[in-house]
Amino acid sequence: MRMVVLGLGYLGATHAACMAELGHEVLGIEVIPEKRAQLAAGEVPFYEPGLPELLRRHIDSGTLRVSDSYAEAADFADVFFIAVGTPQKKGEYSADLTFVDAAVEELVPLLSRDALILGKSTVPVGTTERLSERVDDLAKDVKVEIAWNPEFLREGYAINDTLHPDRVVLGAFGGGRAEETCREIYQKIIDENTPFLLTDPPTAELVKTSANAFLATKISFINAIAEVCEAAGADVKAIADAIGYDARIGRRFLNAGLGFGGGCLPKDIRAFMARAGELGAAEALSFLREVDNVNMRRRTRMVEVAREVCGGTLLGKRIAILGAAFKPESDDVRDSPALNVAGQIQLQGASVSVYDPRAMENSRRQFPTLDYATSAIEACEAADAVLVLTEWDEFLRLQPSDISPVVRNKNIVDGRLCLNAAAWKKDGWSYRG
Ligand code: UDX
Repeated sequence: MRMVVLGLGYLGATHAACMAELGHEVLGIEVIPEKRAQLAAGEVPFYEPGLPELLRRHIDSGTLRVSDSYAEAADFADVFFIAVGTPQKKGEYSADLTFVDAAVEELVPLLSRDALILGKSTVPVGTTERLSERVDDLAKDVKVEIAWNPEFLREGYAINDTLHPDRVVLGAFGGGRAEETCREIYQKIIDENTPFLLTDPPTAELVKTSANAFLATKISFINAIAEVCEAAGADVKAIADAIGYDARIGRRFLNAGLGFGGGCLPKDIRAFMARAGELGAAEALSFLREVDNVNMRRRTRMVEVAREVCGGTLLGKRIAILGAAFKPESDDVRDSPALNVAGQIQLQGASVSVYDPRAMENSRRQFPTLDYATSAIEACEAADAVLVLTEWDEFLRLQPSDISPVVRNKNIVDGRLCLNAAAWKKDGWSYRG
């Protein structure tokens, strides 16, 4: 089937390449010239394992093309995915829908045949209904249907999550061709017995926000327990393992540590609270404020622990920060807990040396005043404390003997509870989790 993907960021580029992989003919629209040029040349402007190969293969074969022209898009297909960003508004909790609205405003007047618009971006509940009225106003003698088909991909696993999702959710108004078209688009996925859930649009929008709110809550729950464990001298990892055996609870997303960051969970829970407030249901989501608070407290606590291990002050100390990405297998530093901690520590008078296997360029751009090292060992040179803040494999494999000779003081703080504490202690290190 021919289809258009509007917006080739993380979500859109992955979706476009994966739709081509499913056998469709795809035109991707990207308005930022540099990004478009890179993608057209088969290069991915961010790190996502497997995506450059997939993208290049389909660009080379011609099944995936990139353009900036909405007119070309309107002419090319009858199915349009909206995959543009919905960032947090500056100084507010709510989501900024400027890009979603602009995509609809620009596309619909150009349509000369009946069409289906499928939204993939994460939007506040009620958006599809609002856009549907706008689409009716903008459409010129054609029938344009809009439905929401949320995406649940995780960075680092984006291809697998798109091609083999846990479920396909479609929120449609009914009476149109959204269901039939989606079943055709995702036929290979549905044939793998992937559940296909047909709902109304507000339900589909809420499926996505509820899923992210639940994941964030799960992480903050275990981090709240971690705070109690620290006070009581108990082991939060053992608790996560033990409660995780209960299938009703499950072990995944119970890793205590520095908490969640990235371009989705923080902004999505805030947008969810803001939207609930608009709907008069603020009280129902008041617990999410605490989820956010627990999460942000992790970062402050990490700075306190760094200060403690440095003997009560960070002034004049050298701190090695291993990890800058918001999670491993990503070069994304949006709302990165690691960089937040690095910044706070520097502001308290320490010199900070940061190393990340993939996120150096993005980190430098966002925090140009931090010092950056070209390897983990270089970052640790003369360090008074080494902080592991993103659980990259490279740091898990790091042996105490690799960095013992270069540090000033053998203090290690494991911000993700990912290291073998016994091995570090055996080598004479003071280990804090
Ligand atoms: C998330 C959702 O998982 C995905 O379904 C949605 O579509 C987009 O948002 P992503 O932002 O890629 O995906 O990252 P995710 O793997 O969910 O991790 C989010 C953050 O939580 C990271 O900072 C990670 O380090 C942290 N995390 C995750 C924990 O602190 N503990 C855990 O147990 C799991």
